[in-house]
Amino acid sequence: MQSQQRRILVTSALPYANGSIHLGHLLEHIQTDIWVRFQRLRGNQCYSVCADDAHGTPVMLKAQELGITPEQMVEQTRAEHHQDLQDFYVNYDNYYVTHSPENKELCELVYNRLNENGYISKRTISQLFDPEKQMFLPDRFVKGTCPECGSEDQNGDSCDNCGATYSPTDVKNPRSVVSGATPVLKDSEHFFFDLPKFESMLKEWIRSGAIQNEMANKLEEWFEQGLQQWDISRDAPYFGFEIPGAPNKFFYVWVDAPVGYMASFKNFANAQGFDDSEFWQNGNDTELYHFIGKDITYFHCLFWPAMLEGAGFRKPTGVNIHGFVTVNGAKMSKSKGTFIKGRTYLEHLNPEYLRYYFASKLNDSVTDIDLNFEDFVQKVNADLVGKVVNIASRCAGFITKKFEGTLSDNIENPELLSEFQLAESVIAKHIESRHYHKAIRDIMALADKANQYIDAQAPWVTIKDESKQAFTHDVCSMGIHLFRILMVYLTPVVPKLSADAQSFLNDEFTWESIKEVKKGHSINKFKAMLQRVDADKVSAMVEASKENLKVTSNKAIKPKTDNKQSEIEPIADTIVFDEFAKIDLRIAKIVHAEAVEKADKLLRLELDIGTETRQVFAGIKSAYKAEDLIGKHTVMVANLAPRKMRFGMSEGMVLAAGPGGDDLYILEPHAGAKPGMRVK
Ligand code: MSP
Ligand code: ZN
Repeated sequence: MQSQQRRILVTSALPYANGSIHLGHLLEHIQTDIWVRFQRLRGNQCYSVCADDAHGTPVMLKAQELGITPEQMVEQTRAEHHQDLQDFYVNYDNYYVTHSPENKELCELVYNRLNENGYISKRTISQLFDPEKQMFLPDRFVKGTCPECGSEDQNGDSCDNCGATYSPTDVKNPRSVVSGATPVLKDSEHFFFDLPKFESMLKEWIRSGAIQNEMANKLEEWFEQGLQQWDISRDAPYFGFEIPGAPNKFFYVWVDAPVGYMASFKNFANAQGFDDSEFWQNGNDTELYHFIGKDITYFHCLFWPAMLEGAGFRKPTGVNIHGFVTVNGAKMSKSKGTFIKGRTYLEHLNPEYLRYYFASKLNDSVTDIDLNFEDFVQKVNADLVGKVVNIASRCAGFITKKFEGTLSDNIENPELLSEFQLAESVIAKHIESRHYHKAIRDIMALADKANQYIDAQAPWVTIKDESKQAFTHDVCSMGIHLFRILMVYLTPVVPKLSADAQSFLNDEFTWESIKEVKKGHSINKFKAMLQRVDADKVSAMVEASKENLKVTSNKAIKPKTDNKQSEIEPIADTIVFDEFAKIDLRIAKIVHAEAVEKADKLLRLELDIGTETRQVFAGIKSAYKAEDLIGKHTVMVANLAPRKMRFGMSEGMVLAAGPGGDDLYILEPHAGAKPGMRVK
């Protein structure tokens, strides 16, 4: 075991404040939390911080959509995220938010130093601008026709159809996802960070062992393509921090997000009354690790170390990069119900199942981690319940009933015990190097040995023999000693199960507990510690995740609808009759219909509903020719609040079925229904 206490600061990537924590995020938080708990168990000083990533255009627009301020939205989300994480036993010393006074101050400090050191320049660039919303559009807020293959409705930066990547200014027939308006090019002065100046430093840092080799190789490719000046400013309106001395210019969210690591730690250190600077200044023996997913490597392995260096701070000791969670071998999917939120999981299953399962699969590589439900149920039941907890449940009853709850003074099989103890250095090495799967493999091999030992000694047979009482006592005590060591090893992975084991064993674990043997120690009555995973609950969770989709899909940024997606949508959450009765549905006669020029999806309809005529813009242009609709009857929502659209007011909605595009069918009543009749 080690003698000197290490001083470590650990972070996980800051989740965006405009969505829920899902199983993908949880892989990272669980990976981090296991490592942090392991360090603490070993007696190291290990701090861990995280926060919500509050800034940027998507957060700003989502808040607008919800009709609240971004500050309100961010605080709600932060609290929700923090609760979700705690319920998975992921415990940060601080779970803060990037929209904080500490972060503002630190961003200004970093920026001012970079500026003083000559790493900031200004240049005018031309970008797509939404004339209606009066804002510049990030790439993902522009859609249009692919300049390469002509496929319609593609993203502003890449085409799903042919895979081409391009600049949003090259997109044909571009439109703003925010308003539907046609963007125009507009000039604006931007601030740039001189990343290329840091090339040699970065090359050296990357090869210093700070990141995994496979990622270091990937980064070589980026160096070959050449490092570029990094655009770090965004124009108002933008939810973020204003750049000092530059009114209406804001730091791009990826500038203040990593500085948010420092800010979260500073906020914690201030509250605790200690000085955080030793963790950020050069020349200290402190260690700094960031846990991240592979998609944000560029930010953490190029921009961030360069910013730190340029501002006179230390660079990370390590950036630990993991792959993505897939479910049953495929990307998490909302329609399949495999895009599972942390909260939905918690409503059905024990969080420690997931912690254990991820641990059993995690390694130090960036390959994706598959959550296979069949394997999940099988592994948790076989390993945690069937192997580990089973050892205690097989031995504890006899100790309590026959031996007054006290372990014997004798070690029945010293070799076996020392095998369990000696595994410590290898298991520790595996956890330290994030090969959790190897640690779990070794721990389960020991658990198998413990069970074989108990099988062979058969205490349930010898207990019946008066002359073998001492032997039976020794065997059952031996089982408990072995169980105890296994639970010390598993403490970082399943902290709640470990806490239950500690109360059962009357003990408090540290890593050193492995060396100790609890001869003659009294233990408590054994209570069931862990239920088997019920496969039906897994199915229920998947079903519930399908329903989440219905509730959340009602966004301004509509999910793409194309012909590929003709699966039947899941049924929405149940509503009571009163809720239904609020919707006033009327028979409407389409008295006029025409295509809206400049809108590739909309028809303008005039609907006679008996008492009046309404104008409605309906997104059915790809499915119907305007002239074919005139004279037809349909059903409309007559009491929907009118919406101002670019082409005029839309005073209701017609009902249509289908996934969208040309696969869409308006409803038509049986002959005889008259305009204005209420649909009940
Ligand atoms: N806000 C940025 C990070 C800023 S850090 C200074 C961000 N947020 S995120 O919410 O999109 O992702 C947070 C972390 O979750 C990232 O490390 C990301 O890689 C990880 N994951 C998001 N989806 C994931 C999976 N499906 N699987 C595994 N990790 C994934 O990026
Ligand atoms: Zn294309």
